[in-house]
Amino acid sequence: MFNKEVYINRRNELKKEVKSGIALFLGNVDAAFNYPANQYHFRQDSHFLYFFGLQNQGFAGVIDFDNNKDYLFGNDFDLDDIIWMGVQPKVKDLAAKAGIENVAPYDNLTSFVSEALKNNRKVHFLPPYRGETVIELSRLLGIANADVKGAASEELIKGVVKLKEIKSEEEIAEIEKAVDVAYDMHTTSMKMAMAGTIEQEIAGAIEGIALALAGPVSFPIILSQNGQTLHNHYHGNTLELGRMMVTDAGCETSECYASDITRTVPVGGKFNERQATIYQIVLDANMAAIDAIKPGIKYRDIHFLAAKVIVEGLKKAGIMKGDTEAAVKAEAHTLFMPHGLGHMMGMDVHDMEGLGEDYVGYDENTKRATTFGTAYLRLAKTLKPGFVLTVEPGIYFIPDLIDQFRNEGKFTDFVNYDMLETYKDFGGIRIEDDVLVTEEGHRVLGKPIPKTIAEIEAVMAEG
Ligand code: GLY
Ligand code: MN
Repeated sequence: MFNKEVYINRRNELKKEVKSGIALFLGNVDAAFNYPANQYHFRQDSHFLYFFGLQNQGFAGVIDFDNNKDYLFGNDFDLDDIIWMGVQPKVKDLAAKAGIENVAPYDNLTSFVSEALKNNRKVHFLPPYRGETVIELSRLLGIANADVKGAASEELIKGVVKLKEIKSEEEIAEIEKAVDVAYDMHTTSMKMAMAGTIEQEIAGAIEGIALALAGPVSFPIILSQNGQTLHNHYHGNTLELGRMMVTDAGCETSECYASDITRTVPVGGKFNERQATIYQIVLDANMAAIDAIKPGIKYRDIHFLAAKVIVEGLKKAGIMKGDTEAAVKAEAHTLFMPHGLGHMMGMDVHDMEGLGEDYVGYDENTKRATTFGTAYLRLAKTLKPGFVLTVEPGIYFIPDLIDQFRNEGKFTDFVNYDMLETYKDFGGIRIEDDVLVTEEGHRVLGKPIPKTIAEIEAVMAEG
């Protein structure tokens, strides 16, 4: 955990954003895997962790905006717990590490919250994403389960987003640690991507690297020679020459900060001409987008810049045609990249997505599009120094989407459908890096992970 001043400062900053009432942060409890005593790996709630720093089950934190006080509610281990799990620090000692003086058993939270409600004080909380939290909030607040999410506090959401979207030095260092472990995960994946290998062997090996060097993967590994499926979690294929393998994977550090990196490599280690052509277009889009990152620019504009690079490249490859600007305006590129260029990152790999993407990725001057593809843009708003985000352009040849658009007569001015038919067996390519917005521009985080054709072929030759 960071030193206690970090957490004291974060809570004090939040007190400037929320006018009155109390904020209730329920930490996570253990979640059962297949029976109560057999549980998933424990993962603390990211918001509780941000403000209270502790990775213990069954704690709750309260920030009292009216009286400038912070509270921790939690139970000390009893003898039974100690027999199974060893001696554990007392809650009051844990609280001290987060700079909290007011500590009480968890049960006291019930009367604390009902007292606040009785006094007509606003009880702010964030939208819950786990059933256990919904039930607990429902019990504490006396509202139906179904109404809990809708009763979350917009004022608190906005305050939390304002603080958490700007990463501090210690947070950036954590994310860089996570990217450095992703370096090992991805170079191992590259070296193993040989014909005859089963995808699961590679996915398992790199998940092991995450666990050995840092912590769990930051999201289930996406790894497949069927990279045209954007989030492909099926790892049962045997790799074949002529295919490209997408690996989209990252890990969490001990403080739960994430990395999220994608690389795509030719099975066997050598790009054929067609693969090299399409790969270079995606790489050009990735690098042009990174180059354009600086404070004051809207990420949506960078998304469309990447789209233009993709259209230009696909025109040279004979797959698209017509005027590039007009093609992007018509959103013809969404046939090839039906997703946004990137998202915010932090403790959650899609940072704070549970609070509502529109709060995190959009602002008063940037409203979400409703059109296919562009509507999936998770981050569109004006960039500020301290943002950490992903840059992840891709080109995917999705047979069902190609058929649908062709049958609907869509984008016939911009797409050479006959040529495109010959790419239906290609798969997909995505290249993703994690980037910090700095005062001057940007910095790609972590040890550079091979991504040029020459770099990838060189690493794969070592395999
Ligand atoms: N890395 C998966 C995603 O960004 O959705
Ligand atoms: Mn991503």
